[in-house]
Amino acid sequence: MRKRYQAPAIASSEITSESTYLKRRELIKAAGLAALPAFAGSALAGEKDTGGLPLDYKAAVEAGPAGFYTSEPQTPMADVKDYCNFYEFGMDKGDPARNAHEMTTDPWSISVSGAVNKPGKLNLEDILSGFDLEERIYRFRCVEAWSMVVPWVGFPLSALLERFEPTNNARFIEFRTLYRRSEMPGTRSFTSIIDWPYREGLRMDEAMHPLTLMSVGMYGKTLANQNGAPIRLVVPWKYGFKSIKSIVEIKVSERQPATSWEGLNPREYGFYSNVNPEVDHPRWSQKFERRLPSTLFKPNRIPTRKFNGYEEQVAGLYEGMDLRKFY
Ligand code: MTE
Repeated sequence: MRKRYQAPAIASSEITSESTYLKRRELIKAAGLAALPAFAGSALAGEKDTGGLPLDYKAAVEAGPAGFYTSEPQTPMADVKDYCNFYEFGMDKGDPARNAHEMTTDPWSISVSGAVNKPGKLNLEDILSGFDLEERIYRFRCVEAWSMVVPWVGFPLSALLERFEPTNNARFIEFRTLYRRSEMPGTRSFTSIIDWPYREGLRMDEAMHPLTLMSVGMYGKTLANQNGAPIRLVVPWKYGFKSIKSIVEIKVSERQPATSWEGLNPREYGFYSNVNPEVDHPRWSQKFERRLPSTLFKPNRIPTRKFNGYEEQVAGLYEGMDLRKFY
């Protein structure tokens, strides 16, 4: 039976480490805990959480036009875990899977500040209290032209933002990833090109859109570190780099925030970054994608769809905008 996570009656700052520990346990299915006592026990006790603990969530349903579900074949979990972009752990697609276990994800908190009536810092357990976790099967398309279909587990970002009561001045959201050099070899490397911490942004209406998900799991289990544990964003109609991983900070603002990739190369990476086969990346076409698993001999090449196939749900957000200019 599913449990509903009730918001605690005490401020998160007063919650002891023991109650934090117990509440994180609530996220994990009792059945799963029984089956995996040793692994679950050590991960929950604050050692390195490498993902894979069973979650309690509402399974995806093939429901109407919301776009929360696709019947396209799901990408095998191994491909999603092994072929990653998480530059904090290295530039190679295999580096995150090799190095991300170094990141400590428990305890974890997110601070929310800026144009909100109730700024504050909440630990992960408190963030999850009050939400029912749900599964969403989304297409995910990277700017480098590979794509996958992933069953994410999470809750709408809008539900989290509403708890902090955005003010009338709230027009944009900025997200920041954990920046912990000692646990992130990619940030110490001389080949690192990003101005850390990794930063991303959304317009307020994009952030509040029901498709925009805060994910804490995939394939029914907690996220592996390399996929952004313990909590990441998933914005399915935008190129993958908007889906920022391992978030520790959210700032609500009046002004459009600077993002890592825009700062690095504004000609190649715009603020909006909506998946758009009609607008090429300056160095390659965006008309096709390689759906993982894909090999040199079997590239699994398919045409890319506008807004990654979510046109019906999100085109209205951009009415009247020149999407060649606002790429
Ligand atoms: N978030 C952080 N903090 N650092 C990153 O390097 N890479 C982005 C995005 N989120 C990235 C990040 C890019 S380029 C992509 S395509 C997706 O994560 C990849 O997500 P996945 O590895 O889980 O498939």
